[in-house]
Amino acid sequence: MIKKHMGMCNKMNTHPHNKDFVQTTSFGTFGDKYVIVMVALPARGKSHIARKLAWYLQFVHGADAKVFNLGDYRRDYYPNASVDMFDPNNEKGVKMRENCAERAMEDMKVYLKQNHSKGVVALFDATNSTKARRQWIFDNVSKKAKVIFIESIINNPSIERENIMSKLENSDYQGKEVHEALADFQQRVNFYKSVYEPIDDEHQVWIKVFNAGAKIILNNIRGYLLGKIATYVSCLRINKQRIYLTRHGQSEYNCDNRIGGDSGLTNNGMVYAQQLADFVEEKGLAKPEIKARLWTSTLRRTAETIQFFPSNIVQGWQVLRPKIWPCLDEIHAGVLDGLTYEQIEKHFPNEFALRKADKVSYRYPGGESYLDLIRRLEPVFLEIESSNVPIIIVAHNAVLRIIYSYLKQIPRQEAVRLEFRLNCLREIEPRTQTCSAKMFCLDEDCN
Ligand code: F6P
Repeated sequence: MIKKHMGMCNKMNTHPHNKDFVQTTSFGTFGDKYVIVMVALPARGKSHIARKLAWYLQFVHGADAKVFNLGDYRRDYYPNASVDMFDPNNEKGVKMRENCAERAMEDMKVYLKQNHSKGVVALFDATNSTKARRQWIFDNVSKKAKVIFIESIINNPSIERENIMSKLENSDYQGKEVHEALADFQQRVNFYKSVYEPIDDEHQVWIKVFNAGAKIILNNIRGYLLGKIATYVSCLRINKQRIYLTRHGQSEYNCDNRIGGDSGLTNNGMVYAQQLADFVEEKGLAKPEIKARLWTSTLRRTAETIQFFPSNIVQGWQVLRPKIWPCLDEIHAGVLDGLTYEQIEKHFPNEFALRKADKVSYRYPGGESYLDLIRRLEPVFLEIESSNVPIIIVAHNAVLRIIYSYLKQIPRQEAVRLEFRLNCLREIEPRTQTCSAKMFCLDEDCN
């Protein structure tokens, strides 16, 4: 068996660690400089968009991305400023806010100047609500970078209310009564409304997002990366629904410590399949009105893991009908598929050492790298962002590490070393700033 692998490996080893092409951990799609300028009244989700977008460009496209949040500068320079600071007729307040913008601009320019070996994106996260302010930003950076404006408009009262309520949790309002904080914040919004000028310059590059992606208008958005940014922004919802991630039950290959393959479940795996089905019921995820989604890979071990899930049809809706995604299949180990790590170390020491040295970019001969996996999983990230119902993903070790790390904003280098044990399930709850995660071990032996 090993001989067969060795023959194939010699023939097919055209992986990137030859001298012609080295794919590094930071490998990404682009090498330009971009400044993304957020535009919106307070509580229109602009910081949420900026943070998510920065992470997406970093994790998926390999860019250096950094958010310059003016609120942070304000809290730093003027920690106890009152709401009058936002009054456009208060000269002192205007000066204070201009001062914060100038500080942030200086830092942003330093960041853009640094020696980035790859694409770099700076996100200027502030209301930027007047034409004069936007022109000032453009004049400062347009010689150094491509400038894109993203305006978030929310005129749906329930989304507005939800956003305002989440704002009250931030440090500006700590220790304040809700009604007091609400009145203060509303006053701030009104000050901004009194001077707000929507984007209408046909010559600039911009994206207008209405009501968290319900409608999008694009202006001068051309080319690969701008198209990607527009698509990503259009997917972002104010998603408060949970995501459940679990590996399949124990497979025959797991039992033998072999990687990859398409084996079925062991008896232990079957036990987990039943426990998982019970968990899904207990959590109420099988209620038809919840409309939870179930996603699996195309491999036998995930299909067998969901075999006991409820699948009744209620008023034409099939509960937990599996969506079977090829992109959720396990990382492909190419010609080394089916071996144990010990066999790889013994018979393919070079491959073993290369993977150990750089697990993110190492590509199995005839197979995939983690970087390949990140690209393959991009549709999954976009579908998660677009969804507003709970999702249960039954997949594989490497795939789940990447999905989890995307959600929790864990860098690529750490992602590939995360432990994703069998018989455990992670519940991810999206929050305003990031995601919280909880682990459930369904197997008592699992500690
Ligand atoms: O061992 C189970 C498994 O899912 C293999 O099929 C896969 O190759 C491996 O985990 C991925 O983990 P790692 O990247 O740490 O080798």
